[in-house]
Amino acid sequence: MPTIKDVAKEAGVSVASVSRYMNKKGYVSETTQQRIQKAIDKLAYQPNEIARSLFQKKTNMIGLIIPDISNPFFPMLARGVEDYLIERNYQMVLGNAANDPTREKQYYQMFQQHNFAGIITAMEPRDDFELKLPVIQVDRARAESPFYVRSDHELGGSLVGLAISESTPKKVLVMRGPQDIVNATNRHQSLTQTLTENKIAYSEYQAETFGLESIHQIVKEIFVEIGTEGFDTIAATNDMHAIYLIKEAVSRGIKIPTDLQIIGYDGIDFAELMVPQLTTVSQSVYEMGSLAAEMLLNRIEGTANQSQKVNLPVILSSGETLRKR
Ligand code: RIB
Repeated sequence: MPTIKDVAKEAGVSVASVSRYMNKKGYVSETTQQRIQKAIDKLAYQPNEIARSLFQKKTNMIGLIIPDISNPFFPMLARGVEDYLIERNYQMVLGNAANDPTREKQYYQMFQQHNFAGIITAMEPRDDFELKLPVIQVDRARAESPFYVRSDHELGGSLVGLAISESTPKKVLVMRGPQDIVNATNRHQSLTQTLTENKIAYSEYQAETFGLESIHQIVKEIFVEIGTEGFDTIAATNDMHAIYLIKEAVSRGIKIPTDLQIIGYDGIDFAELMVPQLTTVSQSVYEMGSLAAEMLLNRIEGTANQSQKVNLPVILSSGETLRKR
């Protein structure tokens, strides 16, 4: 395995010159750069990343923490992050918190202990510990978060409310996402406000999680309420919950959307593949991840340090699970 000394000898320069060239720190003349690169190519030299990170006191590793890898929303987000990082010669390590605050904190600590260059987190902002490396909030951010990329959930909630209002609903059930997740609260508020503005009465069902760990219990409780209360319209917590509700309705011989209409939220790939195709509000998930990665690297590389807050638009993706006028 060729070393930095072999490269210096082959190029006829000092080890210090090769080190400066490899770490892009300090002056190296054009001629010397060409001689060093020629020697690297000839010897097929691979820099020792651990040695390099010790020299630079940081790695080119980025941590991404997500709440729940079993929800297709988050792998889509991770792809957007990783594709951008690779373009700029950074590597990503994915931490799945599995909606467990202890596991989440362990990832923050591990990324910091291993000298990661920065963190992108889709978790709720936490102020119970201090991090000494740049952090970007993605997807879940509070108004006061200094650096974030999220969807405009206020618009998203109003799009759901409008779509329902225009669909001839008889009795509406709104599934409210977890109350400790800010974007669930944001979209719930604008959804219910839009229904009220359109004089559409509604009832609420509180979902304790966006995840699938209790989806069968959620579906069971919802269908009890459909049976007792006669709901014919459901605003689902997210696409995955909507898909499980549709599956249950079909298994009971309930016609979608004639007998029961359902609208989702997120715009995951499965929504489009569903039969009937899910009507939903789509987030630009991949772009959200890519922009968060760009924002972080610009902070790390010193080209952007003042606060940056990006709200991405969302759109109604018309499918077949909401009645048309
Ligand atoms: O489906 C998971 C939900 O949590 C999405 O709506 C997304 O916004 C995330 O915060």
